[in-house]
Amino acid sequence: MKLRSQEWYGKNDKDGFCHRSWMKNQGYPHDVFTGRPVIGICNTFSELNPCNAHFRELAEWVKRGVWEAGGFPLEFPVMSLGESQLRPTAMLFRNLASMDVEESIRGNPIDGVVLLMGCDKTTPSLLMGASSCDLPTIGLSGGPMLKGIHHGQELGSGTSLLRMADELAAGRLPVCEFLDAEGAMNRSKGHCMTMGTASSMASMVEALGMSLPENAAIPAVDARRNTLAQMTGRRIVDMVREDLRMSKILTRAAFEKAIFNNAAIGGSSNAVIHLLALAKRVGVPLSLDDWDRLGSSLPCLVNLLPSGEHLMEDFYYAGGVPVVLRELAEAGVLNRNALTANGRTVWDNVAKAECWNRDVIRPFSHPFKAHAGIAVLRGNIAPNGCVIKPSAASEHLLRHRGRAVVFENVEQLHAQVVDENLEIDESCVMVLKNCGPRGYPGMAEVGNMPLPPKLLRRGIKDMVRISDARMSGTAYGTVLLHVSPEAAAGGPLALVQTGDTINLDVSARKVCLEVDDRVLEQRRAMWTPPPMPARGWTKLYVDHVLQAHEGADLDFLVGGSGSAVPRESH
Ligand code: FES
Repeated sequence: MKLRSQEWYGKNDKDGFCHRSWMKNQGYPHDVFTGRPVIGICNTFSELNPCNAHFRELAEWVKRGVWEAGGFPLEFPVMSLGESQLRPTAMLFRNLASMDVEESIRGNPIDGVVLLMGCDKTTPSLLMGASSCDLPTIGLSGGPMLKGIHHGQELGSGTSLLRMADELAAGRLPVCEFLDAEGAMNRSKGHCMTMGTASSMASMVEALGMSLPENAAIPAVDARRNTLAQMTGRRIVDMVREDLRMSKILTRAAFEKAIFNNAAIGGSSNAVIHLLALAKRVGVPLSLDDWDRLGSSLPCLVNLLPSGEHLMEDFYYAGGVPVVLRELAEAGVLNRNALTANGRTVWDNVAKAECWNRDVIRPFSHPFKAHAGIAVLRGNIAPNGCVIKPSAASEHLLRHRGRAVVFENVEQLHAQVVDENLEIDESCVMVLKNCGPRGYPGMAEVGNMPLPPKLLRRGIKDMVRISDARMSGTAYGTVLLHVSPEAAAGGPLALVQTGDTINLDVSARKVCLEVDDRVLEQRRAMWTPPPMPARGWTKLYVDHVLQAHEGADLDFLVGGSGSAVPRESH
């Protein structure tokens, strides 16, 4: 088998000299260029992305494995998206980072790729970019942080912050206590250790078959994370020799497996958007309705925050994703024959997985929550759909009719929600506009709007909220998200006014604005679109971004271009 890298290194002419000679300035001996598979280690290390800040060390363990297996590892950086630091939202840059990944892989002498992923958007951006090249590729997640502990209480990243912020706003938590918890919540390297988006996406990598087993849950500081990195390095060299490309693993069965798994782990609603975008890159038909049809009737087995009470460390000690996949396979849900990155089927990998803590991972026959997968709702307010995560919602609000209280944008929300004179009570439906892909821009995680402090003080913990935004995977509540089309694109959400009545029925998959069509037409005639960015990345983004129900990729990035680059550089 002729290696792709030999198109660079296998020639004894000016070009071959050029490609090898400049690399030799790093001290590589000549024989690394004469037939070893070149393994690109796509590294999202950044000190501005604390969840991935340990990746230089992780990459060294991958390199050990690559060298051992006869490969030639070459690490390269790509744009790293730190969820806790980037403004206006890391999601604005997911597609940009995917372009960086795609072009970095295609343009270089690489035969196979290891993707180092961690913080929320680093996982989908790397999967999307790499899949548009379709080389042999394997994922390695950085692992979750250890659980937070503060004054004897366990703290989960994100989820506990939201709870404490509510307590602070209600006047029940002194500000000194609140600030003291800062250093206790996120106390080790790794990504958020709740079943938020990072952990959900790491689980998705494993469920898709794109990593070695146990990838999702081994804590970042556990020595077995380094062992997994070394084994991943060994494995990618063999994947090159077997020509096991992403497209052979990312089949329809793999995507279905990921949807089943996301329901069973109580995974993030953000996984919906990322999986839809990835499917479009590899040409697998997958729709928003597949999420509801395949996943919504499945139970949640995993008792982790934000749907439950434990954290990722507990999930690993209990057996992690292999146990969940075994439960799903034995219940007849999974296709047992789907291929995975180690060359074995999913059933080969999980058939002997044992659960060591049934409070953390419940059996399929006695689940933690019934009917827990993502539900997709439609109605005149969301003709192309919106989603809700019932496992993180309040049972009593899943059927609800209430008066809309509308916020035109996030600034208005923040200014008005703290106003003691705002006309709102717990029966109202909070509506937030202009936070979708084009409107924010970037579809920020603001859909779990803060509740008014005057209601928090009365002990109100949840209200129905609707928006075209996303919410953090660590968040919770009866929150309808991803309304499509979004308000800024002229969707009906733009026409809702305070005082309208909204009728929600999750079991009927309906959400309706009870306003006469003629009135809505009059409002549409008065509607003007919000101003859009005039230059730079944000202009390119808003001009080309698809709506949420299509994965919010850029229209010209859908599909792939393979790995061929016919022209030399000089
Ligand atoms: Fe990086 Fe949560 S902020 S995973």
